Parts: sequence; C-alpha cells; structure tokens
Amino acid sequence: MKPITASFLERFIYDNLQDETMSRTTKKIGKMLRFFHADEAADRSALDSPDYARGLSFGERWSGTPVAEADGSPVPAADNPLWKYFCEHEEGPGIWKWTHYFDVYHRHFARFRGQKANMVEVGIYSGGSLGMWKDYFGRNIHIHGVDIEDACKCYEDQQTTVHIGDQEDRSFWADFRTKVDNIQILLDDGGHTPDQQMVTLEEMLPVMPPGSVYICEDIHGVSNRFTAFAAGLVTLLNAQNTEPGPIPVATATPIQQSLCSIHFYPYMLVIEKNAVAPSRLEAPKHGTEWQPFLG
Ligand SMILES: C[S@@+](CC[C@H](N)C(=O)[O-])C[C@H]1O[C@@H](n2cnc3c(N)ncnc32)[C@H](O)[C@@H]1O
Repeated sequence: MKPITASFLERFIYDNLQDETMSRTTKKIGKMLRFFHADEAADRSALDSPDYARGLSFGERWSGTPVAEADGSPVPAADNPLWKYFCEHEEGPGIWKWTHYFDVYHRHFARFRGQKANMVEVGIYSGGSLGMWKDYFGRNIHIHGVDIEDACKCYEDQQTTVHIGDQEDRSFWADFRTKVDNIQILLDDGGHTPDQQMVTLEEMLPVMPPGSVYICEDIHGVSNRFTAFAAGLVTLLNAQNTEPGPIPVATATPIQQSLCSIHFYPYMLVIEKNAVAPSRLEAPKHGTEWQPFLG
C-alpha cells in the first residue's frame, strides 16, 4: 500500500476546499500543509540535466567540514533591528516569518533605512509585517501591501496602501503599475506557488528602478519549479560575449546590465539590480611579473 504523504494529504484537502462537508479545521490543515509544502509534489524533471543530477547527488551525500552546531534554528544577530522588533512583538497584528529570513532581510534592506522609498509586500495576512517594515525603514517609506483577501484592506494607513488582487493575474499587475511606480523593494510573501511567484517576478522585476532589491520567499521543496525558473536567470548572468583583444572583455547582455546579483538562501531568492548599468565586463591585469605557463 502506498504511504499517505504530506503532499498527498495537502492535495486532497486543497482540491476539496469547496466541499461544505469538510470541517473548518480540516480546511485549515489543508491550507497550512499547502503553505509548508507548496511544491513538494513538483515535477522532478524541472531541472533535468546530468549536471543538475550530479549537483543534487553531491549535495545529498554532503560531508563538508563540520561547523559548530546551534541548538535549534538559526538565531539572527542580536543587533538585527528586525529580529529585535519581532522578538519584542508579542501582542497585536500577527507576523509570521522563518527565523533565518531576518539576517537576509537586514543584509539586503539596510541601505534603504531612513531613505525615501516604496516597498511592495505581497501577502499581508494579519498585518504585523507591515508594522515591522515601517518601524525598520522609517517615516519615509511607503508600503504597498498586496493580498487576495478583502479583509486586508483594514491595514491601510497614511504610510500603507493596500491593493486587493491575485498575484498570479497579469492584469492585476498591469493595473497596479498604472498606480504605483519607482518600487525599490519588493518582497513576495504571498501564496507561494511557483506560478504566482513567476508571474509576480516577470511582471514587476523589469519595471523596478536601478539599485532596487527583489525578494521571493517561501520557495519550498526540492526541484521546485520557481527554483528552475530562477536558475535560468542565473545561467544568463554568466553569459560571456567576449570581444577579441589582449584582455578578456565581454559585452554586457541586457540581463548583465540590469541585474547585479542573484542570491539563493534556504527558501529564498534575492535579486539586486545594478545602480549603474555596465556596458561591458572586463578582467584587466595589474602587475609586471607573470608565470609563463598561461601565455
Ligand atoms: C504567509 S501569509 C503573509 C504573511 C505576512 N507577510 C507576514 O509576514 O506575517 C500569505 C498571504 O498571502 C495571501 N495570498 C495567497 N494567495 C494570494 C494570491 N494569489 N495573491 C495575493 N495574495 C495571496 C494570503 O491571503 C495571505 O494573507
């Protein structure tokens, strides 16, 4: 007999969410499983190549240098203001985050603190993260929260605009772009399915200004389709259109001009855009003494 896996249960419950005979609790379990296993049942062939299989196998047999083991989940740095806010936030609107996200946020968001900027957070839920961003970035930030649930409209205030819509709907984003521009920070913490994540990135990353940062979180499961999508972008970042000459010079492709870096963390993708677009990438040599073996 086949074992009943979390993915199977999740799919069964989620497929039957409209069934009125299913209790509220069962529906809640289904939604929760969906949250944690968004793509575990994903197509294993999403990243199908011998080299991908080799990396996967290398990782599965991992025997790297042991490091000191923490007692529990990663603990963000004590002086991380977001972590401090989260730890002290014991009452009021709920915030729901993986603990290891806090250091990633601070690493990529710190330069925007105190600056005049626009942030989009897809996925509002109980509104607590909106308060955290306002506290962290300061008075000059304007937050555009996006959620599919009308109930989230109640989190609007002077610094926060709430947009109700489906992040997987391209026409929602087309309309959004007519109302909001110049978004320096976009955090996708919405429905977490690969299609929602891909549509959101395709619709919004290209229009974000130079120097902006895009984070997609909750990319769950091995061979996740959104990971495969992001790997496509990584591949293009390494394009090498070299020109003949004494030193390696490569004409920057549109992606290399636009994107500065792509970072993967557990369940997270971070993309930073260049502040100034390079027209080429080059590797000059400095020094006068060279070994003969490389010509
Ligand atoms: C994980 S919660 C957000 C948590 C919140 N950012 C926090 O830190 O506490 C996910 C939210 O995404 C919303 N959501 C789910 N599917 C969506 C979709 N297709 N478009 C927009 N929002 C969606 C849900 O209604 C829910 O409020």
